[in-house]
Amino acid sequence: MTNSTLLCLVFLVASFSCSHGRFAFKLIYSPRPRHPSLQDYRGDVVADASNNGQFMVNISLGEPPVPQLLVMDSGSDLLWTQCLPCINCFKQFTPIFDPSKSSTYKTLPCTSPSCTVGSSEDKCDPNNNCEFDMTYADGSTANGVIATEKVTLTTSDEGITSVLDVLIGCGHENQGIYGQTSGVLGLGPENVSLVRKLGSKFSYCIGNIRDPQYSYNQLILGNDAVLQGDNTPLDIYDGFYYLTMEGIRIGEKRLNIDRGAFERTASGEGGTVIDSGTTVSFLVEAAYGPLSAEVISLLQGKLERVNDPIFLCYKGNISRDLTGFPVVTFEFAGGAELGLDVLSLFIDNGSGGFCMAVQESRNDDQWNMIGVLAQQNYNVGYDLVGKQLTFQRIDCELLELSI
Ligand SMILES: *[C@@H]1O[C@H](CO)[C@@H](O)[C@H](O)[C@H]1NC(C)=O
Ligand SMILES: *[C@@H]1O[C@H](CO)[C@@H](O)[C@H](O)[C@H]1NC(C)=O
Ligand SMILES: *[C@@H]1O[C@H](CO)[C@@H](O)[C@H](O)[C@H]1NC(C)=O
Ligand SMILES: *[C@@H]1O[C@H](CO)[C@@H](O)[C@H](O)[C@H]1NC(C)=O
Repeated sequence: MTNSTLLCLVFLVASFSCSHGRFAFKLIYSPRPRHPSLQDYRGDVVADASNNGQFMVNISLGEPPVPQLLVMDSGSDLLWTQCLPCINCFKQFTPIFDPSKSSTYKTLPCTSPSCTVGSSEDKCDPNNNCEFDMTYADGSTANGVIATEKVTLTTSDEGITSVLDVLIGCGHENQGIYGQTSGVLGLGPENVSLVRKLGSKFSYCIGNIRDPQYSYNQLILGNDAVLQGDNTPLDIYDGFYYLTMEGIRIGEKRLNIDRGAFERTASGEGGTVIDSGTTVSFLVEAAYGPLSAEVISLLQGKLERVNDPIFLCYKGNISRDLTGFPVVTFEFAGGAELGLDVLSLFIDNGSGGFCMAVQESRNDDQWNMIGVLAQQNYNVGYDLVGKQLTFQRIDCELLELSI
Protein backbone atom coordinates (compact mmCIF):
# COMPACT_ATOMS: atom_id res chain seq x y z
CA MET A 1 0.00 0.00 0.00
CA THR A 2 1.24 3.45 -0.72
CA ASN A 3 -1.28 5.42 1.27
CA SER A 4 -0.11 4.48 4.69
CA THR A 5 1.40 6.29 7.59
CA LEU A 6 3.45 5.35 10.54
CA LEU A 7 0.88 4.70 13.18
CA CYS A 8 1.45 1.11 14.02
CA LEU A 9 -0.61 -0.47 16.70
CA VAL A 10 1.30 -3.59 17.48
CA PHE A 11 0.15 -6.36 19.73
CA LEU A 12 3.11 -8.04 21.22
CA VAL A 13 1.51 -11.40 21.02
CA ALA A 14 0.12 -10.91 17.55
CA SER A 15 2.00 -12.67 14.84
CA PHE A 16 2.04 -10.00 12.22
CA SER A 17 4.95 -7.78 11.61
CA CYS A 18 4.71 -4.13 11.05
CA SER A 19 5.82 -2.35 7.94
CA HIS A 20 5.65 1.33 7.40
CA GLY A 21 4.51 3.15 4.35
CA ARG A 22 3.76 6.72 3.49
CA PHE A 23 0.92 9.09 2.97
CA ALA A 24 -0.14 9.24 -0.63
CA PHE A 25 -2.04 12.43 -0.15
CA LYS A 26 -1.26 15.66 1.57
CA LEU A 27 -3.57 18.43 2.58
CA ILE A 28 -2.37 21.94 2.15
CA TYR A 29 -3.28 23.91 5.17
CA SER A 30 -4.68 27.42 5.09
CA PRO A 31 -2.84 30.19 6.94
CA ARG A 32 -3.36 29.85 10.63
CA PRO A 33 -5.26 32.51 12.52
CA ARG A 34 -3.56 34.56 15.19
CA HIS A 35 -4.22 33.48 18.72
CA PRO A 36 -4.31 35.63 21.78
CA SER A 37 -1.01 35.39 23.60
CA LEU A 38 -0.72 33.36 26.80
CA GLN A 39 -3.16 30.82 25.46
CA ASP A 40 -2.14 27.34 26.27
CA TYR A 41 -3.53 24.20 24.78
CA ARG A 42 -3.51 20.93 26.61
CA GLY A 43 -5.03 17.53 26.41
CA ASP A 44 -5.38 15.02 29.19
CA VAL A 45 -3.65 11.81 28.23
CA VAL A 46 -4.86 8.44 29.41
CA ALA A 47 -3.11 5.09 29.11
CA ASP A 48 -5.22 2.61 27.16
CA ALA A 49 -6.04 -0.18 29.58
CA SER A 50 -6.72 -2.63 26.75
CA ASN A 51 -3.82 -4.59 25.38
CA ASN A 52 -2.91 -2.21 22.60
CA GLY A 53 -0.31 -0.29 24.53
CA GLN A 54 -1.06 3.26 23.52
CA PHE A 55 -1.78 6.64 25.03
CA MET A 56 -5.05 8.39 24.28
CA VAL A 57 -5.70 12.12 24.28
CA ASN A 58 -9.03 13.31 25.63
CA ILE A 59 -10.14 16.31 23.58
CA SER A 60 -13.56 17.48 22.53
CA LEU A 61 -14.99 18.14 19.10
CA GLY A 62 -17.91 20.25 17.98
CA GLU A 63 -20.49 22.54 19.54
CA PRO A 64 -21.67 21.41 22.02
CA PRO A 65 -18.24 19.83 22.68
CA VAL A 66 -18.21 16.04 22.75
CA PRO A 67 -15.17 14.32 24.36
CA GLN A 68 -13.14 11.98 22.15
CA LEU A 69 -10.34 9.62 23.06
CA LEU A 70 -7.81 9.66 20.24
CA VAL A 71 -4.54 7.78 19.77
CA MET A 72 -1.67 10.20 20.47
CA ASP A 73 0.31 9.68 17.27
CA SER A 74 3.38 11.68 16.31
CA GLY A 75 3.74 9.36 13.30
CA SER A 76 0.76 10.72 11.33
CA ASP A 77 -0.78 14.12 10.74
CA LEU A 78 -4.55 14.00 10.52
CA LEU A 79 -6.96 14.28 13.45
CA TRP A 80 -9.93 12.02 12.75
CA THR A 81 -12.69 10.36 14.66
CA GLN A 82 -15.45 7.91 13.84
CA CYS A 83 -18.60 9.67 12.66
CA LEU A 84 -22.24 8.88 12.13
CA PRO A 85 -23.62 7.65 9.84
CA CYS A 86 -21.38 4.58 9.99
CA ILE A 87 -20.94 2.50 6.89
CA ASN A 88 -18.59 0.46 9.00
CA CYS A 89 -17.32 1.47 12.43
CA PHE A 90 -15.25 -0.43 14.96
CA LYS A 91 -16.60 -0.78 18.47
CA GLN A 92 -15.96 2.31 20.50
CA PHE A 93 -16.57 2.91 24.17
CA THR A 94 -18.12 6.36 23.95
CA PRO A 95 -21.00 7.47 21.69
CA ILE A 96 -19.92 7.92 18.06
CA PHE A 97 -19.59 11.55 17.03
CA ASP A 98 -22.68 12.84 15.26
CA PRO A 99 -21.76 15.79 13.03
CA SER A 100 -25.44 16.62 12.43
CA LYS A 101 -25.65 17.61 16.11
CA SER A 102 -22.70 20.01 15.95
CA SER A 103 -23.31 23.62 14.95
CA THR A 104 -19.64 24.19 14.11
CA TYR A 105 -19.19 21.25 11.75
CA LYS A 106 -18.63 22.18 8.09
CA THR A 107 -17.68 19.79 5.36
CA LEU A 108 -14.87 20.90 3.10
CA PRO A 109 -15.59 21.13 -0.64
CA CYS A 110 -13.04 19.22 -2.65
CA THR A 111 -12.40 22.39 -4.63
CA SER A 112 -11.00 24.02 -1.48
CA PRO A 113 -7.27 24.75 -1.53
CA SER A 114 -7.16 22.90 1.80
CA CYS A 115 -8.16 19.73 -0.04
CA THR A 116 -5.07 19.42 -2.16
CA VAL A 117 -4.03 15.87 -2.65
CA GLY A 118 -0.54 14.63 -3.30
CA SER A 119 -1.62 11.99 -5.76
CA SER A 120 -3.66 12.34 -8.91
CA GLU A 121 -6.46 10.25 -7.40
CA ASP A 122 -9.84 11.85 -7.25
CA LYS A 123 -10.52 12.92 -3.69
CA CYS A 124 -14.08 14.13 -4.27
CA ASP A 125 -17.02 12.13 -3.01
CA PRO A 126 -20.31 12.22 -4.99
CA ASN A 127 -21.35 15.34 -3.08
CA ASN A 128 -18.07 17.08 -3.93
CA ASN A 129 -16.83 16.82 -0.37
CA CYS A 130 -13.14 16.37 0.31
CA GLU A 131 -12.41 12.75 1.18
CA PHE A 132 -9.68 11.12 3.21
CA ASP A 133 -8.39 7.61 3.17
CA MET A 134 -5.90 6.40 5.75
CA THR A 135 -4.16 3.06 5.93
CA TYR A 136 -1.89 2.57 8.91
CA ALA A 137 1.10 0.33 9.18
CA ASP A 138 -0.80 -2.39 11.03
CA GLY A 139 -3.47 -2.50 8.33
CA SER A 140 -6.02 -0.42 10.23
CA THR A 141 -7.94 1.90 7.94
CA ALA A 142 -10.20 4.94 8.09
CA ASN A 143 -12.20 6.56 5.31
CA GLY A 144 -14.51 9.51 5.31
CA VAL A 145 -14.73 13.20 4.65
CA ILE A 146 -12.61 16.13 5.70
CA ALA A 147 -14.42 18.85 7.60
CA THR A 148 -13.61 21.89 9.64
CA GLU A 149 -14.68 21.72 13.23
CA LYS A 150 -14.20 23.31 16.62
CA VAL A 151 -11.69 21.54 18.87
CA THR A 152 -11.84 22.11 22.62
CA LEU A 153 -8.75 21.59 24.74
CA THR A 154 -7.94 22.25 28.36
CA THR A 155 -5.68 24.92 29.83
CA SER A 156 -3.08 24.86 32.60
CA ASP A 157 -5.51 26.46 35.05
CA GLU A 158 -8.00 23.67 34.34
CA GLY A 159 -10.15 25.82 32.14
CA ILE A 160 -11.03 25.10 28.54
CA THR A 161 -10.02 26.74 25.30
CA SER A 162 -11.38 26.26 21.81
CA VAL A 163 -9.85 26.43 18.38
CA LEU A 164 -12.14 27.00 15.43
CA ASP A 165 -11.86 25.61 11.93
CA VAL A 166 -9.51 22.74 12.61
CA LEU A 167 -9.32 20.30 9.72
CA ILE A 168 -10.57 16.95 10.95
CA GLY A 169 -11.43 13.67 9.34
CA CYS A 170 -14.92 12.37 9.92
CA GLY A 171 -14.52 8.62 9.46
CA HIS A 172 -17.55 6.75 8.19
CA GLU A 173 -15.80 3.54 7.22
CA ASN A 174 -13.13 2.41 9.65
CA GLN A 175 -11.64 -0.84 10.75
CA GLY A 176 -8.70 -2.19 12.65
CA ILE A 177 -7.15 -2.15 16.07
CA TYR A 178 -7.96 1.07 17.85
CA GLY A 179 -8.34 -0.17 21.43
CA GLN A 180 -10.50 2.17 23.47
CA THR A 181 -10.10 5.10 21.13
CA SER A 182 -12.47 6.53 18.55
CA GLY A 183 -9.77 7.78 16.19
CA VAL A 184 -6.32 9.31 15.94
CA LEU A 185 -4.78 12.64 16.87
CA GLY A 186 -1.97 13.11 14.39
CA LEU A 187 0.89 15.15 15.81
CA GLY A 188 3.06 14.89 12.72
CA PRO A 189 4.85 17.82 11.10
CA GLU A 190 2.66 18.34 8.02
CA ASN A 191 0.45 21.40 7.63
CA VAL A 192 -2.78 19.54 8.31
CA SER A 193 -1.58 18.66 11.83
CA LEU A 194 -3.06 20.41 14.86
CA VAL A 195 0.56 20.98 15.92
CA ARG A 196 0.99 23.44 13.02
CA LYS A 197 -2.35 25.08 13.67
CA LEU A 198 -1.27 25.93 17.22
CA GLY A 199 2.33 26.88 16.57
CA SER A 200 5.40 24.80 16.10
CA LYS A 201 5.98 23.04 19.41
CA PHE A 202 4.43 20.27 21.43
CA SER A 203 5.38 18.05 24.31
CA TYR A 204 3.96 15.04 26.03
CA CYS A 205 4.72 13.66 29.43
CA ILE A 206 3.81 10.02 29.93
CA GLY A 207 4.04 7.73 32.91
CA ASN A 208 3.38 4.00 33.05
CA ILE A 209 1.43 2.70 30.05
CA ARG A 210 -0.05 -0.02 32.25
CA ASP A 211 -1.64 2.49 34.62
CA PRO A 212 -4.90 4.00 33.33
CA GLN A 213 -5.48 5.64 36.72
CA TYR A 214 -2.37 7.83 36.56
CA SER A 215 -3.77 11.30 36.00
CA TYR A 216 -0.63 13.33 35.29
CA ASN A 217 0.02 12.24 31.70
CA GLN A 218 -0.27 15.31 29.54
CA LEU A 219 -0.02 16.68 26.03
CA ILE A 220 0.81 20.37 25.59
CA LEU A 221 0.54 22.07 22.21
CA GLY A 222 1.96 25.45 21.23
CA ASN A 223 4.31 27.81 23.03
CA ASP A 224 3.66 26.33 26.45
CA ALA A 225 5.16 23.02 25.38
CA VAL A 226 7.81 21.86 27.83
CA LEU A 227 11.22 21.63 26.22
CA GLN A 228 13.62 20.91 29.01
CA GLY A 229 16.19 18.27 29.82
CA ASP A 230 18.58 16.87 27.26
CA ASN A 231 18.53 18.28 23.72
CA THR A 232 19.09 16.45 20.50
CA PRO A 233 18.66 17.61 16.89
CA LEU A 234 15.23 16.95 15.36
CA ASP A 235 15.17 16.30 11.65
CA ILE A 236 11.83 16.50 9.87
CA TYR A 237 11.84 14.44 6.72
CA ASP A 238 9.00 13.11 4.60
CA GLY A 239 6.43 13.68 7.33
CA PHE A 240 8.33 11.96 10.14
CA TYR A 241 10.44 13.00 13.10
CA TYR A 242 13.97 11.68 12.76
CA LEU A 243 16.62 11.68 15.46
CA THR A 244 20.34 11.14 15.28
CA MET A 245 20.82 7.98 17.30
CA GLU A 246 24.40 7.09 18.07
CA GLY A 247 24.46 3.98 20.15
CA ILE A 248 23.00 1.66 22.76
CA ARG A 249 24.35 0.85 26.21
CA ILE A 250 23.22 -1.93 28.44
CA GLY A 251 24.25 -1.07 31.95
CA GLU A 252 27.72 0.40 31.52
CA LYS A 253 28.48 -1.68 28.46
CA ARG A 254 28.34 0.08 25.11
CA LEU A 255 27.22 -2.34 22.41
CA ASN A 256 29.37 -2.64 19.35
CA ILE A 257 27.05 -1.17 16.72
CA ASP A 258 28.17 0.71 13.64
CA ARG A 259 26.68 4.21 13.68
CA GLY A 260 25.59 3.69 10.10
CA ALA A 261 22.90 1.34 11.44
CA PHE A 262 21.03 4.39 12.79
CA GLU A 263 21.58 6.77 9.88
CA ARG A 264 19.29 7.67 7.02
CA THR A 265 20.97 7.24 3.67
CA ALA A 266 21.20 9.93 1.02
CA SER A 267 18.34 8.24 -0.81
CA GLY A 268 16.12 8.51 2.28
CA GLU A 269 16.31 4.90 3.47
CA GLY A 270 16.72 3.90 7.08
CA GLY A 271 17.37 6.30 9.91
CA THR A 272 15.78 6.58 13.32
CA VAL A 273 12.24 7.85 13.81
CA ILE A 274 10.46 8.69 17.07
CA ASP A 275 6.75 7.91 17.19
CA SER A 276 4.23 8.06 20.02
CA GLY A 277 1.67 6.00 18.07
CA THR A 278 3.70 2.81 17.77
CA THR A 279 3.86 0.54 20.77
CA VAL A 280 7.13 -1.34 20.43
CA SER A 281 10.45 -0.14 19.09
CA PHE A 282 12.15 -1.35 15.93
CA LEU A 283 15.83 -1.76 15.27
CA VAL A 284 17.60 -2.79 12.10
CA GLU A 285 19.49 -6.07 12.26
CA ALA A 286 22.88 -4.43 12.87
CA ALA A 287 21.52 -2.92 16.11
CA TYR A 288 18.93 -5.54 17.05
CA GLY A 289 21.49 -8.34 16.81
CA PRO A 290 23.91 -7.02 19.45
CA LEU A 291 21.08 -5.90 21.78
CA SER A 292 19.21 -9.20 21.69
CA ALA A 293 22.47 -11.16 22.03
CA GLU A 294 23.34 -9.22 25.17
CA VAL A 295 19.88 -9.71 26.68
CA ILE A 296 20.05 -13.43 25.88
CA SER A 297 23.43 -13.69 27.53
CA LEU A 298 22.28 -11.84 30.65
CA LEU A 299 19.25 -14.10 31.08
CA GLN A 300 21.05 -17.31 30.13
CA GLY A 301 20.52 -19.96 32.77
CA LYS A 302 18.15 -17.72 34.71
CA LEU A 303 14.92 -17.78 32.75
CA GLU A 304 13.46 -20.15 30.20
CA ARG A 305 13.30 -18.77 26.70
CA VAL A 306 10.08 -19.27 24.73
CA ASN A 307 9.92 -19.42 20.97
CA ASP A 308 8.10 -16.59 19.26
CA PRO A 309 8.14 -15.76 15.56
CA ILE A 310 8.78 -12.06 16.18
CA PHE A 311 9.87 -11.26 19.68
CA LEU A 312 12.48 -12.40 22.16
CA CYS A 313 10.33 -13.99 24.88
CA TYR A 314 10.75 -15.69 28.24
CA LYS A 315 8.67 -17.44 30.85
CA GLY A 316 8.32 -15.33 33.94
CA ASN A 317 7.19 -12.00 35.24
CA ILE A 318 9.06 -8.74 34.68
CA SER A 319 8.75 -7.14 38.11
CA ARG A 320 9.47 -10.39 39.93
CA ASP A 321 12.12 -11.98 37.74
CA LEU A 322 14.07 -9.06 36.29
CA THR A 323 15.13 -7.25 39.42
CA GLY A 324 18.67 -6.01 38.96
CA PHE A 325 18.47 -6.17 35.17
CA PRO A 326 20.52 -3.25 33.79
CA VAL A 327 18.98 -0.17 32.21
CA VAL A 328 19.22 -0.09 28.43
CA THR A 329 20.15 3.39 27.21
CA PHE A 330 19.55 4.76 23.73
CA GLU A 331 22.13 7.45 23.02
CA PHE A 332 21.49 10.45 20.78
CA ALA A 333 23.56 13.23 19.27
CA GLY A 334 24.29 16.07 21.70
CA GLY A 335 24.32 13.74 24.68
CA ALA A 336 20.57 13.18 25.06
CA GLU A 337 19.63 9.76 26.35
CA LEU A 338 16.56 7.64 26.75
CA GLY A 339 16.90 5.12 29.57
CA LEU A 340 14.74 2.02 29.37
CA ASP A 341 14.18 0.22 32.65
CA VAL A 342 12.70 -3.27 32.54
CA LEU A 343 9.13 -2.00 32.26
CA SER A 344 10.08 0.06 29.22
CA LEU A 345 12.16 -2.66 27.58
CA PHE A 346 9.91 -5.65 28.22
CA ILE A 347 6.20 -6.28 28.24
CA ASP A 348 4.27 -8.94 30.15
CA ASN A 349 1.86 -11.06 28.16
CA GLY A 350 -0.41 -11.25 31.20
CA SER A 351 -0.18 -15.02 31.62
CA GLY A 352 3.25 -15.98 32.81
CA GLY A 353 5.41 -14.74 29.96
CA PHE A 354 7.09 -11.56 28.78
CA CYS A 355 8.87 -10.38 25.67
CA MET A 356 11.37 -7.70 24.77
CA ALA A 357 9.34 -4.86 23.27
CA VAL A 358 11.81 -4.36 20.46
CA GLN A 359 11.31 -5.90 17.07
CA GLU A 360 13.83 -6.41 14.33
CA SER A 361 13.02 -4.24 11.34
CA ARG A 362 12.75 -6.82 8.60
CA ASN A 363 10.65 -5.27 5.91
CA ASP A 364 11.42 -3.03 3.00
CA ASP A 365 11.60 -0.06 5.30
CA GLN A 366 14.78 -0.86 7.15
CA TRP A 367 14.52 1.82 9.76
CA ASN A 368 14.77 2.16 13.49
CA MET A 369 11.81 3.43 15.39
CA ILE A 370 11.44 4.48 18.99
CA GLY A 371 7.99 3.43 20.10
CA VAL A 372 5.95 4.69 23.00
CA LEU A 373 6.81 1.95 25.48
CA ALA A 374 10.41 3.16 25.38
CA GLN A 375 9.26 6.70 26.16
CA GLN A 376 7.44 5.90 29.42
CA ASN A 377 8.35 8.12 32.39
CA TYR A 378 9.67 10.84 30.12
CA ASN A 379 8.66 14.26 29.02
CA VAL A 380 9.39 14.53 25.31
CA GLY A 381 9.43 17.99 23.74
CA TYR A 382 9.37 18.69 20.00
CA ASP A 383 10.36 22.05 18.52
CA LEU A 384 9.65 21.95 14.79
CA VAL A 385 11.17 25.33 14.01
CA GLY A 386 14.12 25.22 16.41
CA LYS A 387 14.66 21.66 15.14
CA GLN A 388 15.29 20.13 18.50
CA LEU A 389 13.82 17.43 20.64
CA THR A 390 14.21 17.10 24.39
CA PHE A 391 14.07 14.10 26.69
CA GLN A 392 13.62 14.49 30.41
CA ARG A 393 13.08 11.58 32.72
CA ILE A 394 10.45 12.80 35.16
CA ASP A 395 7.36 11.87 37.12
CA CYS A 396 4.79 13.93 35.21
CA GLU A 397 3.27 14.98 38.50
CA LEU A 398 6.39 17.10 39.05
CA LEU A 399 6.43 18.63 35.60
CA GLU A 400 4.61 21.84 36.45
CA LEU A 401 6.77 22.41 39.51
CA SER A 402 9.99 22.11 37.57
CA ILE A 403 9.20 24.59 34.79
C1 LIG B 1 2.68 24.36 4.47
O1 LIG B 1 2.33 25.70 4.70
C2 LIG B 1 3.38 26.62 4.43
C3 LIG B 1 2.96 28.00 4.89
O2 LIG B 1 1.60 28.22 4.70
C4 LIG B 1 3.68 26.56 2.93
O3 LIG B 1 4.72 27.44 2.61
C5 LIG B 1 4.11 25.15 2.58
O4 LIG B 1 4.31 25.01 1.20
C6 LIG B 1 3.06 24.14 3.03
N1 LIG B 1 3.62 22.80 2.87
C7 LIG B 1 2.97 21.83 2.29
C8 LIG B 1 3.68 20.51 2.20
O5 LIG B 1 1.86 21.94 1.86
C1 LIG C 1 -12.64 13.12 28.96
O1 LIG C 1 -12.97 14.46 29.33
C2 LIG C 1 -14.32 14.65 29.71
C3 LIG C 1 -14.53 16.09 30.06
O2 LIG C 1 -13.99 16.92 29.13
C4 LIG C 1 -14.66 13.76 30.88
O3 LIG C 1 -16.05 13.89 31.16
C5 LIG C 1 -14.34 12.32 30.57
O4 LIG C 1 -14.54 11.52 31.71
C6 LIG C 1 -12.91 12.18 30.12
N1 LIG C 1 -12.66 10.78 29.71
C7 LIG C 1 -11.65 10.08 30.20
C8 LIG C 1 -11.55 8.66 29.75
O5 LIG C 1 -10.81 10.54 30.95
C1 LIG D 1 4.22 -10.24 38.63
O1 LIG D 1 4.53 -10.56 39.96
C2 LIG D 1 4.11 -9.58 40.88
C3 LIG D 1 4.68 -9.94 42.24
O2 LIG D 1 4.75 -11.34 42.40
C4 LIG D 1 2.59 -9.49 40.84
O3 LIG D 1 2.13 -8.52 41.76
C5 LIG D 1 2.15 -9.12 39.43
O4 LIG D 1 0.74 -9.13 39.35
C6 LIG D 1 2.73 -10.08 38.41
N1 LIG D 1 2.45 -9.53 37.09
C7 LIG D 1 2.02 -10.26 36.08
C8 LIG D 1 1.78 -9.53 34.81
O5 LIG D 1 1.82 -11.45 36.16
C1 LIG E 1 2.43 -16.00 27.79
O1 LIG E 1 3.68 -16.64 27.94
C2 LIG E 1 3.58 -17.89 28.58
C3 LIG E 1 5.00 -18.40 28.79
O2 LIG E 1 5.66 -18.52 27.59
C4 LIG E 1 2.76 -18.83 27.71
O3 LIG E 1 2.63 -20.09 28.37
C5 LIG E 1 1.40 -18.23 27.50
O4 LIG E 1 0.65 -19.03 26.60
C6 LIG E 1 1.53 -16.84 26.91
N1 LIG E 1 0.21 -16.23 26.85
C7 LIG E 1 -0.21 -15.59 25.76
C8 LIG E 1 -1.57 -14.99 25.85
O5 LIG E 1 0.45 -15.53 24.75
